Amino acid sequence: MTFSEQKQSNSKEQRRLLVTGGAGFIGSNFVHHWCKQYPGDRVVVLDALTYAGNRQNLSSLAGHQNFHFVQGDICNDALVNALLKEESIDTVAHFAAESHVDRSILGPDAFVRTNVVGTFTLLDAFRQHWERRNQPKSDRFLHVSTDEVYGSLGPDDHPFTETTPYAPNSPYSASKAGSDHLARAYYHTYGMPTIITNCSNNYGSYHFPEKLIPLMCINILMGKPLPVYGDGQNVRDWLYVGDHCSALDVVIHKGKPGETYNIGGNNEVKNIDLVNKLCEVMNELAADLPIRPAQKLITFVKDRAGHDRRYAIDATKIKTELGWTPAETVDGGLRRTIEWYLHNRDWWQPLLSAEYQAYYSQVYTQV
Ligand code: NAD
Ligand code: TYD
Repeated sequence: MTFSEQKQSNSKEQRRLLVTGGAGFIGSNFVHHWCKQYPGDRVVVLDALTYAGNRQNLSSLAGHQNFHFVQGDICNDALVNALLKEESIDTVAHFAAESHVDRSILGPDAFVRTNVVGTFTLLDAFRQHWERRNQPKSDRFLHVSTDEVYGSLGPDDHPFTETTPYAPNSPYSASKAGSDHLARAYYHTYGMPTIITNCSNNYGSYHFPEKLIPLMCINILMGKPLPVYGDGQNVRDWLYVGDHCSALDVVIHKGKPGETYNIGGNNEVKNIDLVNKLCEVMNELAADLPIRPAQKLITFVKDRAGHDRRYAIDATKIKTELGWTPAETVDGGLRRTIEWYLHNRDWWQPLLSAEYQAYYSQVYTQV
């Protein structure tokens, strides 16, 4: 018996998961994590394959007998109802979302549709399914959310806790806040075993090129300008995606229905320091950089509208109540991530499509 099989046989129950958004960045990392840790569990992915979804992120699972991929929209209630029933789902891990702040500034409609209406569709379909099955206590609806719902911190403010009032500032964070409130209401009104997690900025493999870390890595490799918004002093708390997945695993198995858990990396970094660090490691690891040192490419550009100054997470609750802490350091995680982008050009090159170039020139008009 392998270690994973032993772990599975020791765990109390086998689960049947519906993972929405499982072809995206965090969702696909989570699916890989779950299939490795719990090979006896059923994992059904529902993903619309928007520009951010990529079937290739899951291609290595093609032969896994308990894995099943369905292309479809979380707003399609007939499809969601049928999947919950046919697959006897007992656990929803809900990642599907429009996730990029800059795109939410350009076009908020899709954010309200998927993040608010889509989450509502899933919650209500799962409620009916859970009630039909006589409300099993071990069922879970995990709603994966962001620290951005709490708004922006000043330099000396205490990091966000689970009781920090919501104050979302972008259409993205406002739509995620709306979905969090719905998830909360489904526990308080119907008793549905819903748990919300609010996590800081993730980084790692399969991260779509539009986000800060992959964008900088790819631009360094291509010798293109590195666009730093405003004065570069904005602060984010960075968490390696594998640590986010292990936190969600713990929350599904040990978290309490109706609760919220903040997840963070204890790694507050200013954007400009992060970009300099990426340049340093790229200078060291990449033999064939078009421009060297990569720092020469750093270009300050017009600030993002409504740009939140600082995010930071107080993750005491998940540590003390569920025993989770991150395993990866920011130096170790960044090095692993840079190596991944260096060795997986076949993954990211096709993503720099005409659609992506059009988006890029809309956001980065000055670069
Ligand atoms: P992503 O943009 O990489 O992936 C989103 C996935 O959802 C894609 O595969 C896409 O095809 C799918 N999707 C979009 N609309 C859909 C729809 N209507 N129906 C079905 N599928 C749809 O996002 P990500 O970075 O992996 O984020 C996943 C979740 O984690 C999101 O809910 C996000 O708010 C949250 N989150 C992200 C971060 C981060 O740093 N990336 C941090 C905290 C929380
Ligand atoms: P991002 O990865 O978009 O995540 P979020 O906005 O959800 O935190 O951006 C992280 C930080 O990096 C944020 O402060 C905006 C900044 N940023 C840049 O300076 N330049 C860029 O090209 C991008 C994409 C982000």
